[in-house]
Amino acid sequence: MPKPGVVDNAVYVDGYRVDSPPTLEQTYDLQKRRDGLAWIGLYRPSETMIHSVRSHAKDIVAPASASAAQVHRGFCEYETHCVACHGASAVARERWVSGMEPAPPYLLDATHRFKPRELFWIAKNGIKMTGMPSWKNSMSDRQIWDLVAFLEAMPKMDSQTYVHWRAAGICPLLSARPSPGPLPTPRP
Ligand code: HEC
Repeated sequence: MPKPGVVDNAVYVDGYRVDSPPTLEQTYDLQKRRDGLAWIGLYRPSETMIHSVRSHAKDIVAPASASAAQVHRGFCEYETHCVACHGASAVARERWVSGMEPAPPYLLDATHRFKPRELFWIAKNGIKMTGMPSWKNSMSDRQIWDLVAFLEAMPKMDSQTYVHWRAAGICPLLSARPSPGPLPTPRP
């Protein structure tokens, strides 16, 4: 079965061929038909988890602002490390993820719940007793801040931007050029 995303210029989500990248609502709908109601719907982490993250992160100072280049680099980190579990707009989570308890949520509303410094803390330290790993041994603080910049930008992006960036192949370009020049404009 083809992976979600763009294959041979056609877009597939969970093996369904769709004419254009689906909206977030359509992604949820496909997921609902595939997995039943159990693992869609509003996700809310426990109060204990929220409280613990807030208190651990309270002294972390977030960078003042994020550049477009940072958002693009963060997209590439997300694409490499996070999308399998968390999905993205118009990109379903991998099927094996439904075997996890708790299941990883889509991260489109995580920015309502957590400030940038708290998202940084979560990505760096992981969440105990769940499948959410700590990334502190595999990513630098700078890479994690790039990720946070992307997480902040993602809910504001057009529902099809993620698949367009994928199709435009911006990540190999970024790693080939140590100081990236202007980024290619994603093709519609
Ligand atoms: C192996 C699967 C897996 C991978 C890979 C993964 N996560 Fe998670 N993540 C989880 C699970 C499971 C939870 C839910 C934990 C809970 O219920 O408290 C979670 C929760 C989160 C949350 C809190 C969401 C919320 O709204 O409360 C954030 C933020 C997050 N992950 C960020 C990331 C980032 C950034 C990456 C990539 C660097 C990543 N995760 C990679 C499994 C994963």
